[in-house]
Amino acid sequence: MATQSTKVLFFVLFSFAICRTHAALNAHYYDQTCPQAEFIVSQTIRNASIYDPKVPARILRMFFHDCFIRGCDASVLLDSTPENEAEKDGPPNISVRAFYVIDDAKAKLEKACPHTVSCADVLAMAARDVVAMTGGPSWNVLKGRKDGRVSKANDTANLPAPFLNATGLIQAFASRGLSVKDLVTLSGGHTLGFSHCSSFVARVHNFSTLHATDPSMNTEFASLLKNKCPSTNNNGDAGQFLDSTASQFDNDYFKQIIAGKGVFGSDQAMYNDPRTRPIIEAFAKDQNMFFREFAASMIKLGNVGVNEVGEVRLNCRKPN
Ligand code: HEM
Ligand SMILES: *[C@@H]1O[C@H](CO)[C@@H](O)[C@H](O)[C@H]1NC(C)=O
Ligand SMILES: *[C@@H]1O[C@H](CO)[C@@H](O)[C@H](O)[C@H]1NC(C)=O
Ligand SMILES: *[C@@H]1O[C@H](CO)[C@@H](O)[C@H](O)[C@H]1NC(C)=O
Ligand SMILES: *[C@@H]1O[C@H](CO)[C@@H](O)[C@H](O)[C@H]1NC(C)=O
Ligand SMILES: *[C@@H]1O[C@H](CO)[C@@H](O)[C@H](O)[C@H]1NC(C)=O
Repeated sequence: MATQSTKVLFFVLFSFAICRTHAALNAHYYDQTCPQAEFIVSQTIRNASIYDPKVPARILRMFFHDCFIRGCDASVLLDSTPENEAEKDGPPNISVRAFYVIDDAKAKLEKACPHTVSCADVLAMAARDVVAMTGGPSWNVLKGRKDGRVSKANDTANLPAPFLNATGLIQAFASRGLSVKDLVTLSGGHTLGFSHCSSFVARVHNFSTLHATDPSMNTEFASLLKNKCPSTNNNGDAGQFLDSTASQFDNDYFKQIIAGKGVFGSDQAMYNDPRTRPIIEAFAKDQNMFFREFAASMIKLGNVGVNEVGEVRLNCRKPN
């Protein structure tokens, strides 16, 4: 009799444990074990951004890449080894940078509360901090992610490309459980930062047999981009800011798209599709609505493919 009820109890506890591995990220995860975690990350981000104003855009993009490949498991932070080329060295690595900032936050966390805060959680908190710091919304970051042990350069082929049409973009987001609204909202991350010529130059030189430049692009904007990127193989640092207020988190990105001044074909494609256009128009009119939705969609992005079993890396660049 006793064994029977013990069995039942074990079964109940065991089922509960299995359920918890699915959706138990929690805003208060480190309240007991590392109450300073949020403060340490935000101070580090703030200081680093004062020294280098490119940091906020780089950190936001890093989080997106992390979550889109193998889930939000800090795979983007692992370094290549002689045996394995890592994500960060995969094909579009030209602007996923500022890893030193995450290292710095992690080093301080290891001093304050050793072996407690995962690298994936550090990046999730940092992404919220850079948005809030540049004038955007803030939100409670859910925490409790564990770090993965695998990072493969060729996985970057799974990132959405800047020439995708609306259907391709919608599919890329849907395969991570993200909606059409999440797609448009999170693309608003392009309110910060910069692109190298290589990511958009095909729109302004020899676009197609019929059109030298992408006809969905504003013609003056096309001339500007041609001046910045005079040929199809510009080397180095040339490129364009992603909206006209690229260090300010605001809704200008959506206004630019409506004006035909989206930098990527993917940005502009969303305006030319009836499934995404109304959302762009709404955000261009109502910045508060964009901010509310951005906070909600970032929480969803932060839930993509999360591991609740795994390790807390000691050094974000290598597995323990
Ligand atoms: C919808 C599909 C997306 C595509 C096709 C895309 C593509 C790109 C490309 C090609 C670049 C420029 C890389 C370079 O040449 O330097 C870029 C930059 C950037 N992306 Fe995206 N992206 C997408 C979604 C997102 C999302 C969801 C976020 C964040 C929420 C984001 C944040 C950024 C930021 C902040 C930059 C600027 C980085 C910097 O200044 O260093 N992107 N993106
Ligand atoms: C602030 O950032 C600079 C540049 O990255 C760094 O050298 C310095 O150690 C940081 N200071 C603190 C207190 O984090
Ligand atoms: C990626 O980064 C590595 C190391 O910084 C560099 O050697 C390589 O050329 C980069 N690849 C691309 C496509 O930018
Ligand atoms: C990367 O390569 C591995 C095998 O080395 C393969 O299983 C995987 O599908 C590849 N991923 C992509 C995106 O091509
Ligand atoms: C979108 O792109 C895919 C290939 O990437 C293509 O098969 C499809 O026809 C395109 N859809 C539209 C509406 O252009
Ligand atoms: C456009 O294509 C033509 C013919 O293929 C070529 O001669 C020309 O160099 C190309 N222009 C650019 C800017 O690449």
